[in-house]
Amino acid sequence: MLHRFTFADGAVSYANHFLESRAYRVAREQNTIVYSEFATDPCRALFKRVATAFSPPAFGDNANVNLTRLGEEFLAMTETPLPVVFDPQTLHTLGVAEPAPRQVTVAHPHRSPKTGELVSYATHFGPYTTYRIYAQQPRGQRHMIAKLGVSRPSYMHSFAITERYVVLVEFPFVVVPIAIPLSGRPFIENYRWRPQRGTRFRVIELETGKLRGIYEGEPFFAFHHVNAFERDDELVLDLCAYDDAEIVRDLYLDHLRQEHPELPDPELRRCRLRLDGSNVEYKRLADVGLELPRTDYQRCNGRAYRHVYGVGQRDGGDFLDELVKVDVERGEASVWSEPGTYPGEPVFVPEPDAAEEDAGVLLSVVLDGAAGSSFLVLDAGDLGELARARVPHHIPFGFHGQFATEV
Ligand SMILES: [Fe+2]
Repeated sequence: MLHRFTFADGAVSYANHFLESRAYRVAREQNTIVYSEFATDPCRALFKRVATAFSPPAFGDNANVNLTRLGEEFLAMTETPLPVVFDPQTLHTLGVAEPAPRQVTVAHPHRSPKTGELVSYATHFGPYTTYRIYAQQPRGQRHMIAKLGVSRPSYMHSFAITERYVVLVEFPFVVVPIAIPLSGRPFIENYRWRPQRGTRFRVIELETGKLRGIYEGEPFFAFHHVNAFERDDELVLDLCAYDDAEIVRDLYLDHLRQEHPELPDPELRRCRLRLDGSNVEYKRLADVGLELPRTDYQRCNGRAYRHVYGVGQRDGGDFLDELVKVDVERGEASVWSEPGTYPGEPVFVPEPDAAEEDAGVLLSVVLDGAAGSSFLVLDAGDLGELARARVPHHIPFGFHGQFATEV
């Protein structure tokens, strides 16, 4: 479901509408999940699975992870290669956009800090599996930046970009490509934790597509990158790190519905790659856990920065129940929380013409266990509450949101 909060005339209004994806329509008609999802596989006949698992019809287009704007189009995205186009005024679905170049992609494309192009990657599974890094222009135009062969592709929910480079961080959570169509398991359950592989950082030149190098570090897993930048002869990558990929299992509903589900704390981690070296060094940036990270993206993407905003978990909490801000230079953290409430990803909106980073507001949809949902506006600087709008029903946990002006 798309949710929209609109600011006008000193008030906030709210609207929602189901994304009329093919996956949604067919599920409504048949009253069950029909297309394969990330961790859900409807029982399909084996012959059909083999025949269709590597071609688009096997994948749904349940684009429930993130949104972006490409030219005049607004796209809803997931990790299958079928972004759904919607009207930002009516929230009506308009169709399916140009598919990504193969079966699995990311819902976290980046803007090239230099050119502004939308850059993304997809994994092309086949006899010769490749990661394909590409730039996407409006109206379906695209150019391929690089194709990199890989025998055991990693599950990478996002990637890093700097002014000159794209970095694919291959966590040792990998799949044997041919196993997917035959296993009968949902997509993510085909991946295996192989810590002996370590974590491989593939650095690719944005302009030429040339592989600058592969750098290695200790094994870990992450969903989200925070930011990355070049500094002298090194690359600095910040991300939300877990010791292993157990977090994927921990987020299953049957686990979350237990009396006291435990979730590991994501570590705000800085990875430093010396471009002329081979090893990667890690450093913890703050003593608080932080997930669903956001920055002042327009100002800081691919450049040195100072502030990251996200969600965290209080000691003894049972889910992500606080908003967190970290000054990555000083390692200082500040939090906002209210008992019984669960804030969603804080979207940073800069003040118009702001002179400095951190001047702006944070927007967060907060699930209030007792009273339904609230929409919260905080001052990004001190996390002080500026405004709150109550929504007359609950809004379930979501993933990512975006702010747009003049839609
Ligand atoms: Fe994400």
